[in-house]
Amino acid sequence: MKDLINMKKENPKKNIILSQQFSIEFLNELFKLTDFMKQNETKVSEELRGKIVSLLFYESSTRTRFSFESAVLKLGGNCITTENAAQFSSASKGETLEDSIRMVSTYCDFIILRHNEDNSSKRAVSVASVPVINAGSGKSQHPTQALLDLYTIYEEFGTLENMKFAIVGDLLRGRTCDSLVYLLSKFKGNEFFFVSPDNSKIKESLKNYLVENNLNFSEVDNLDDVLPAVDVCYMTRIQKERFESLVEYEKTKGLFILDKENVELMKDNAIIMHPLPRVDEITLDVDMNKRARYFEQAKNGLYVRMAILKLLNDNV
Ligand code: CP
Repeated sequence: MKDLINMKKENPKKNIILSQQFSIEFLNELFKLTDFMKQNETKVSEELRGKIVSLLFYESSTRTRFSFESAVLKLGGNCITTENAAQFSSASKGETLEDSIRMVSTYCDFIILRHNEDNSSKRAVSVASVPVINAGSGKSQHPTQALLDLYTIYEEFGTLENMKFAIVGDLLRGRTCDSLVYLLSKFKGNEFFFVSPDNSKIKESLKNYLVENNLNFSEVDNLDDVLPAVDVCYMTRIQKERFESLVEYEKTKGLFILDKENVELMKDNAIIMHPLPRVDEITLDVDMNKRARYFEQAKNGLYVRMAILKLLNDNV
């Protein structure tokens, strides 16, 4: 399957690195398989029987890590992992990412990698002898998050075309917005409103991509101005851990908040999404609002990741 990128000509293994790599045909196949996983969750599967999946997480995680581990177990495979690869792997002794990946490759069938460097997945693929799945690379990409986001939108609306999206929060340091926008840009007629603090605007790379591909987008200062127009409000947190100065973070946080008052500006059938974790950008009273989908979205991560692992395993 060509969508599961082969990053290195001499390495025939398949990888998941960037959300741009997926074709619409692949997404359709993935979503059908995700539906199947969701409907058959309780049935024990043998898809990964005898396979070992290594979870190498150099940054903290709740959803990505637990949902991938759960997906592996539900498919009959086994996981090897460390609580914190930055601290408990030999990275703490100065081992390079490349050397660690070379070694871990020899002990498992797949590597799921989260790392603080933007280029980490490509570096890993360049030396890995097994498929690598990017589970979050620095500020750049989180492709499996984008796949579960897209699945959630499709499940809700039955289409991925001609929709309006507010993309809100730390668009400079976050990675989920980039991955999602690259994916949504594959579908016609979508429009994006980017809402972020002045020091956290969308990356030049994403902006250039949108301009070069004649996609419809604008950067706006006031969230309430766009809430009545959008089908999806995709909130994200300000990425405290990626700020160089705590003072700058304190000035940046709390500027765009969805609460029980402004959420009522949204259309009745619009939805609120968030990759989570949230800090203060969606108040707790919004959780009961009919438009809130972020917990269902996170749960879909399990089924999407089960489908991803099956497709990758079928195409090794
Ligand atoms: N959305 C997401 O990646 O969450 P975690 O950091 O908890 O994995």
